[in-house]
Amino acid sequence: MALPKFVKIVDVGPRDGLQNEKIIVPTEIKVELINRLADTGLSVVEATSFVSPKWVPQMADAAEVMARINRKPGVSYPVLTPNLKGFEAALAAGAQEVAVFGAASESFSQKNINCSIAESLERFEPVMAAAKAANIKVRGYVSCVLGCPYEGDIKPEAVAWVADKLFQMGCYEVSLGDTIGAGTPVKAKRMVEAVAKQVPIDKIAAHFHDTYAQALGNLYAVLEMGIATVDSSTSGLGGCPYAAGASGNVATEDVVYLLNGLGIEHGINLDKLIDAGAFISAALGREPSSKVALATLKKRAKANAS
Ligand code: HMG
Ligand code: MG
Repeated sequence: MALPKFVKIVDVGPRDGLQNEKIIVPTEIKVELINRLADTGLSVVEATSFVSPKWVPQMADAAEVMARINRKPGVSYPVLTPNLKGFEAALAAGAQEVAVFGAASESFSQKNINCSIAESLERFEPVMAAAKAANIKVRGYVSCVLGCPYEGDIKPEAVAWVADKLFQMGCYEVSLGDTIGAGTPVKAKRMVEAVAKQVPIDKIAAHFHDTYAQALGNLYAVLEMGIATVDSSTSGLGGCPYAAGASGNVATEDVVYLLNGLGIEHGINLDKLIDAGAFISAALGREPSSKVALATLKKRAKANAS
């Protein structure tokens, strides 16, 4: 299969990127990050999560974030909703797209959302029904698609089984999460092959964390299979509070650079994206972890000095 002509990037930085930060990030910084990302040309910016603040304190200001962002026409701002309570709060906050999140690993499901895989699917049913009634799009996530922090290897068939359930339930897209970034390209291909038997390839997204620096290689492998939706995080922020040791998502800047090199369209202004990444990195008191951002910022500084 040929590479796609256009790739849709879902920047999950404000949600996946920030949820793991130990120090609470001020709401105005989150809002500015989301607004800056929407100004780069991204069509999807995952904004926040309507989860229990006891489980993820960083996301406790979800409603305030949704109230304060500029909603740019043509940009979608999905939010995570693990149950009906979260969905109702998201709806009240004006969310127009939500995501339910399950896992291909029983242990991870218990640690992350406090229920089994089967129970999680039961919990999602009323969310799907309420979303349908309110005309809200629902995305589905499957975590641990290339390995679990508690169980190790996960069979591609187990991933395909959950992905199929989410798709059958009405999720318009299923995002496959390499939560701990353990995958390698051939493994990623085998897993996507199994999922694509159940879910059309154009309804599958790749959500790869970069713990072992394999995410770009894994992405290239699945782009070759026709995957045309990629989740990534500005400046490589991210991690899951219930997957110890997992690092951020693949950096959006690095994905855009890869797509540029492959001649694949994406609609994003790389310079503005690097600025957004530099903004959040400075706010968090660290350097961007995107190599493309670091190289570009260095080049800019040199040009300014001369
Ligand atoms: P639980 O404790 O089993 O929930 O948590 P419960 O229904 O028994 O309720 C307990 C308390 O939580 C009650 O409050 C509820 O009202 C409240 P209390 O009576 O004790 O005061 N509650 C809520 N509050 C706010 N919003 C809600 C909500 N639901 C219940 N939606 C629950 C179950 C799912 C809520 C919890 O486990 C949770 O919030 N988990 C979220 C964990 C999380 O956000 N993880 C990170 C996102 S997933 C991820 O990062 C992976 C991904 O990026 C893909 C990848 O990389 O693999 C997507
Ligand atoms: Mg993630």
